[in-house]
Amino acid sequence: MMLSSLPARFFSTSAVKESTKVAVLGAAGGIGQPLSLLLKSSPLVDHLSLYDVVNTPGVAADLSHIPSKAKVTGHVGAENLGEALKGAKVVVIPAGVPRKPGMTRDDLFRVNAGIVKGLAEAAAEHCPDAHLLVISNPVNSTVPIVAEVLKKAGVYSPKRLFGVTTLDVLRARTFVAGKKDVDPTTLKVPVIGGHAGTTILPLLSQNSAGVTFSDEERDQLTHRIQFGGDEVVQAKAGTGSATLSMAQAGAEFTEALLAALNGSDGIVECAFVESPLTDAPFFASPIKLGREGVEEILELGQITPFEQKLLDELVPVLVKSAQAGVDFVNSSE
Ligand code: NAI
Repeated sequence: MMLSSLPARFFSTSAVKESTKVAVLGAAGGIGQPLSLLLKSSPLVDHLSLYDVVNTPGVAADLSHIPSKAKVTGHVGAENLGEALKGAKVVVIPAGVPRKPGMTRDDLFRVNAGIVKGLAEAAAEHCPDAHLLVISNPVNSTVPIVAEVLKKAGVYSPKRLFGVTTLDVLRARTFVAGKKDVDPTTLKVPVIGGHAGTTILPLLSQNSAGVTFSDEERDQLTHRIQFGGDEVVQAKAGTGSATLSMAQAGAEFTEALLAALNGSDGIVECAFVESPLTDAPFFASPIKLGREGVEEILELGQITPFEQKLLDELVPVLVKSAQAGVDFVNSSE
């Protein structure tokens, strides 16, 4: 769903709404800049607060010339992080290093884990009630890291912490639509599990167009959705990973959440959250969003034996990745 094409119900609220501040941490990066551009045009954002360790004043000045509702402020350097976060309702985190060819998301762990931990500590202190949207990879571990930091600070709520897996859903919609000649803008394909390689599980059998697949098509599409990020990493040949499609995905999820927080009904998005659905402590699945964030984690519905097998294989991987996150926080105290 594009920003300007959100249904009218997204913008209607009965109560007088407080000012909505959205902070982007890592705002000067490959994802951060186009994500901030999209959020600058969102009618649901009153104040867009941009934070990075470099270059945010320039990005903020540039965006501030666009005539839209959101006021833009730029904050650079750790000493200004508190100011960037204070009063934020939603904090989107694309800070960190991206993958290079040959790297897996887990290779990113050591660098990004420390960055995300530091940002989560600051969020716990300066905006303890904010909704945190984690884009920094590996999401399968960075989300548990944030949860652990917030728990230690006594401010954790599972309703307000999300790993952003929307890009997997966008890829599933695009790739299925391309193969089956259906409209990608209305097609829905739930994507569950985690956010790395084979932990990503598109439920192709539940696509909203009711299209069916041969076993070969199913295998090929599942693999392409799981490893879609590699296509971009290879095409960018050493200069980074998905940024523009990720910015679109991040903006779509942020807007959907903001709309739900404002009282719009019936908003369902896939996201990686604390979940009782499997043995994994965090799991991505369709979630009903509401005024407080996660309102209801929906049941997985009917899944095929093929999907069940992949699900059984991925859950132990997610358990391990989550534990790695918890161990990282506990060992770096
Ligand atoms: P990038 O290197 O272009 O930008 C990262 C930005 O983070 C830079 O501007 C950098 O200065 C900033 N940064 C580094 N340390 C920071 C700190 N302590 N505080 C605030 N900002 C800090 O990287 P890109 O391409 O924007 O990717 C960012 C992250 O998003 C990576 O971890 C990447 O793997 C992940 N990603 C996640 C996806 C998802 O689907 N969830 C998809 C694609 C990438």
